[in-house]
Amino acid sequence: MLNKPRESMNIVVVGHVDHGKSTLIGRLLFDTDALSPGAIKKVQGICQEKGKPFEYAFLLDALEEEQKQGITIDTTRISFATHQRDYVIIDAPGHKEFLKNMISGAASAEAALLLIDAQEGIREQSKRHGYILSLLGIKNVYVLVNKMDLVDYDRDKFAQIKEEMGSFLNALGVYPLKYIPISAFQGENITAHSAKMPWYDGEPVLKALDFFEQGRDLEDRPLRLPIQDVYKFDSRRIIVGRIESGRLHVGDSIVISPGNKKTRVKTIEHWQPKDQKDEVTAGMSVGITVEDEFFNSNGEIITHTDTLPQTAQSFKASVFWLGKKPLVAGKRYKLKLSAQEVECCIQRINKVIDAATLGRLEDAPAVHLNDVAEVVIETKRPVAFDDFKDNQHTGRFVLVDGYDVSGGGIISGLAGEQISTESQNRVIENYLVTRQEREAREKQKGKVIWLSGPRESLRNEIAIKAERRLFDLGKKVYYLSNNNWNITETEHVNLMAQTARVLADSGIIAIVAFEADAKDFVRCIIPQEDLHETIISDDEQMVAEDKIEEIVKLAIG
Ligand code: GTP
Ligand code: MG
Repeated sequence: MLNKPRESMNIVVVGHVDHGKSTLIGRLLFDTDALSPGAIKKVQGICQEKGKPFEYAFLLDALEEEQKQGITIDTTRISFATHQRDYVIIDAPGHKEFLKNMISGAASAEAALLLIDAQEGIREQSKRHGYILSLLGIKNVYVLVNKMDLVDYDRDKFAQIKEEMGSFLNALGVYPLKYIPISAFQGENITAHSAKMPWYDGEPVLKALDFFEQGRDLEDRPLRLPIQDVYKFDSRRIIVGRIESGRLHVGDSIVISPGNKKTRVKTIEHWQPKDQKDEVTAGMSVGITVEDEFFNSNGEIITHTDTLPQTAQSFKASVFWLGKKPLVAGKRYKLKLSAQEVECCIQRINKVIDAATLGRLEDAPAVHLNDVAEVVIETKRPVAFDDFKDNQHTGRFVLVDGYDVSGGGIISGLAGEQISTESQNRVIENYLVTRQEREAREKQKGKVIWLSGPRESLRNEIAIKAERRLFDLGKKVYYLSNNNWNITETEHVNLMAQTARVLADSGIIAIVAFEADAKDFVRCIIPQEDLHETIISDDEQMVAEDKIEEIVKLAIG
């Protein structure tokens, strides 16, 4: 008889500090005989020494120690099995890197157990973790109300926590499939129905786990093969990478994004004749050759022609920030998305969300440690990606500040009607005439003079006069006056900034005048060295003539 391979599912255990995550995991491992006798003995020894009852939480420490000595398991991947399938518990609980791993995709869970201490009730981290589950789109969630022994297995207490946590999670679009009252320490409702809680009519944890439904197989999703490297062998170029989803056959028509190169799969490489394959599938690391040998760079993504990824230079994302220095708009970071690495800039911080209260701060200047924010990110080059809801591998990224991974995020869509600034820069970079040459011929430096002030008529007057003065001085100058286009304020500023940026790049002095100073997204568009700001105040003492002089100095200085 042919054995069907056993199903395996990754689960994550989350919850507030001390609410019993390690104890529950220790229990699950113990009750499913997943532990080495050595680890159990060790913990027995420690507890006896202290005159304390057996601490299941110590089992994880014992495992960690064994791992340090290189003996057994990787604590980030502890596993146990039920009759139905194998479970892998991702990330040792209490691990500081947990959030980073969850967000960056170093760990990817299909199901989650959210623990709440019955006596302490819902705490900040219970909510933060609930929020992360919603961000990651994890639908398989059970809420375990732990330490029921400390509240005399009280039904009302359980009902109250269920109600409260339910409304918090539902507001986030997370609908826990089950709420289970347990005592991890006493082993109630873990493997068998607890006699102490006859009022509970559901399954114990171990049985309930088997009700989690596994998602669609990765192999049946659209093909995503990020290129990790291209090797030259003889005269052939072998493209290597890991298939994140889908399947690939010899002869398939493929597209390589973001370069949008179309070709066909010529061969799937193998080391030995017995390994020869005409089809490869998700999870495999492969080497292939293609019919047209373009120059393919690391990070590009191979897909089939009818299921292309998105290609853009800006997108919307939810970012979880873990950096000591806050995330700020306008600053440059490195973005790593599947195998792509590209410089990027936070064009706009739309909202900062306090994950514990769900309070929102609109138009915040910065995102601090542990905050989640909705942002618009702009990249220096086009990148290929998917919305996170469509593909977790190509829909998530990390942000690197200096040398540190400081945040992670998931992509929620294109940035809308944003005009991509960097694409213009790229075009400019590709011209045969350089900016230096243009500036040398004009005998001036391209600049953007950004005037701001409350009174429109005054701004306009000063800008017009300054333009005349500069022109009379022999300068190439252009005042981009405000027309009443039927677009929003932000779109207008964006358009003006884009245009001014091109003018400056061609060696011209561009003048713009707005009520507000240059916002962060403008700083993403216009390089800092080109942008010169001055404020036109509204007080009586202001002499327009002095201001014009100042602008002339800014422009030619
Ligand atoms: P961190 O890793 O620090 O976030 O904590 P944790 O969530 O892993 O909690 P842990 O399992 O270490 O448990 C914290 C304390 O609660 C330990 O002293 C446990 O013995 C105790 N505890 C866990 N579960 C129960 C329970 O069901 N009943 C009682 N009475 N105590 C429990
Ligand atoms: Mg722990």
